[in-house]
Amino acid sequence: MPDRSDDSASVPSEGEGNVAGPSQGGGKRGMWESRYQERDLSQFFWYRADAPPELKKLMESEQRPASGAAIDLGCGPGVMTVYLAQYLRPAVGVDIAHAAVAKAKRLAEEQESPARFLVVEAPDLPFRSGSAGLIFDRGCLQAIPRSSWRKYFSEVDRLLQPGGQLWLYCSAPTSARLLTRRGLRTLAGRVLGRKQVALGETIARHLPRSMETVEMEDRRFETPSGRTRALIYGLFRKR
Ligand SMILES: C[S@@+](CC[C@H](N)C(=O)[O-])C[C@H]1O[C@@H](n2cnc3c(N)ncnc32)[C@H](O)[C@@H]1O
Repeated sequence: MPDRSDDSASVPSEGEGNVAGPSQGGGKRGMWESRYQERDLSQFFWYRADAPPELKKLMESEQRPASGAAIDLGCGPGVMTVYLAQYLRPAVGVDIAHAAVAKAKRLAEEQESPARFLVVEAPDLPFRSGSAGLIFDRGCLQAIPRSSWRKYFSEVDRLLQPGGQLWLYCSAPTSARLLTRRGLRTLAGRVLGRKQVALGETIARHLPRSMETVEMEDRRFETPSGRTRALIYGLFRKR
């Protein structure tokens, strides 16, 4: 069953119609569920027990969104939702995986945080238009097929109030493994002479006109298995 136990009146929900049920997430949900069930958080290379320093700095500055809800897309174990709940209310974390939401709820309980959590499959986001002051996404956009990125950004645009911000961390491998669908697509593209578009450029192309880029940094990092990944950190504001 979709996890609706925290979908109370204080969560800016538009109703439960968009809350993803087990059948909608399909294979993707199953993949994330088993990852969370089989591994300890410390085994995820992306897991951090604290908010990134640049965001802490931003939150403590005049630049931070002063009002509206905080929505943490692909909240995973909820570390950032709990952090954001100190500044913005309501703070709601959404994730495709029930197992992630269960961990996130446990963390909120342990830390006596008012953060709330819902099982939702982005880019369908069951929240009221203009209700969010801040949307945080670390690792969710990259898990959504590129064909749904327009929908993702139009949902972000719909939810943000004027002056609201999107804080985005999005990563992708710098080279695709050949024997994967992505690898074969990349190879076919090369053969056909198609230009490879950098991740930052792809994000910029999807950004609605109503949103401006405040800053965007192109970083790289190496995973524990030795693969290099591109990482875009971006701060975007709704005009
Ligand atoms: C790389 S993890 C990052 C978790 C968390 N944001 C963090 O930084 O610790 C990506 C998360 O996105 C979730 N996810 C993947 N696809 C999603 C989707 N379409 N909608 C919502 N969550 C999704 C996964 O279950 C996973 O928890």
